[in-house]
Amino acid sequence: MNSKLILGTVQFGLKYGINNTIGKPKKEEVLSLLKVAYNSGIRILDTAQAYGNAHQLIGNYHKEQNNFKFKIITKFPHQIKHNLIKSKVLEYLDLMNVNTLDVIMFHSFDSFKSNYNSLKTLNELKSEGLIKNIGVSVYTNTQLESLLNEDLITVVQLPFNLLDNFSVRGVLINKLKEKGKIIHTRSAFLQGLFFKKITDNLSIVQALKRHLKTLNKITKKQGCSMEALALSYCIKQNNIDNVIIGVDSISQLNANIKAAAYEVNEEALKCIDNITVENLDLLNPSLWK
Ligand SMILES: NC(=O)c1ccc[n+]([C@@H]2O[C@H](COP(=O)([O-])OP(=O)(O)OC[C@H]3O[C@@H](n4cnc5c(N)ncnc54)[C@H](OP(=O)(O)O)[C@@H]3O)[C@@H](O)[C@H]2O)c1
Repeated sequence: MNSKLILGTVQFGLKYGINNTIGKPKKEEVLSLLKVAYNSGIRILDTAQAYGNAHQLIGNYHKEQNNFKFKIITKFPHQIKHNLIKSKVLEYLDLMNVNTLDVIMFHSFDSFKSNYNSLKTLNELKSEGLIKNIGVSVYTNTQLESLLNEDLITVVQLPFNLLDNFSVRGVLINKLKEKGKIIHTRSAFLQGLFFKKITDNLSIVQALKRHLKTLNKITKKQGCSMEALALSYCIKQNNIDNVIIGVDSISQLNANIKAAAYEVNEEALKCIDNITVENLDLLNPSLWK
């Protein structure tokens, strides 16, 4: 069962993904997708107020499948007024038809910093049982480092994948784990970039061409698919608690569920850990032009 996978939901509410030609899945497809996810052992959804109507779609699913509810991670908008914190949480609970939020996150490190004085209120909501954890979603290692001594932050979400790999993130992931944090990773497919043909003219594909070639070589040698290599690499990391994946369709979800069962071997792990992308900005989709 896929207990380590979390299903991301930005794809439900916004057109997302580097190869996406079909747009958002339809309402009915989202319902079916959630059923397939639940039946495959996925029990946690990652969502956000910023993801269009994703909260609403999750709520629709929960109304229909009352006995098969997911745990919910959601995120405040980047700008949130301190006096609205509790009402926002209550609104999310109501919209998604759940009694508690497993994690409420700040959507970015900047949002965490500018709303720092909300931590006390959030901690009270924790005591009331409305939320279970407070988290922050980050991009950079400097941001990760700053969270080491933030005791009220119990969940950290960061990018991690075949290129943004253990050589870039490993030391800090291990330190965060020593501090007892729960580690969630996103960007397992670098927004779908790993599935691009290296002949594609897109500038980010060309900029990372050498490394994408190396990844293709590894999959050939191992006789596995790209999704199997990408997912099993993340799942294999002992100090990563959960791996968030994004899909636009049931067929991608099914492919990824199958891929998650693949066991990456030590030889492949070594090759991946040896990949070093010098310009780390290339690994941050928010900076792609
Ligand atoms: N700051 C934050 O907190 C933050 C930021 C970003 C994302 N997230 C969360 O993370 C989740 C995942 O997003 P991500 O950016 O990390 O995406 P990802 O998982 O790295 O990539 C997802 C994309 O890969 C493609 N894909 C997935 N499975 C595939 C398969 N089997 N074959 C071919 N292509 C496949 C799809 O894109 P195509 O349309 O190109 O096919 C899909 O949209 C989101 O839903 C969201 O919940 C959080």
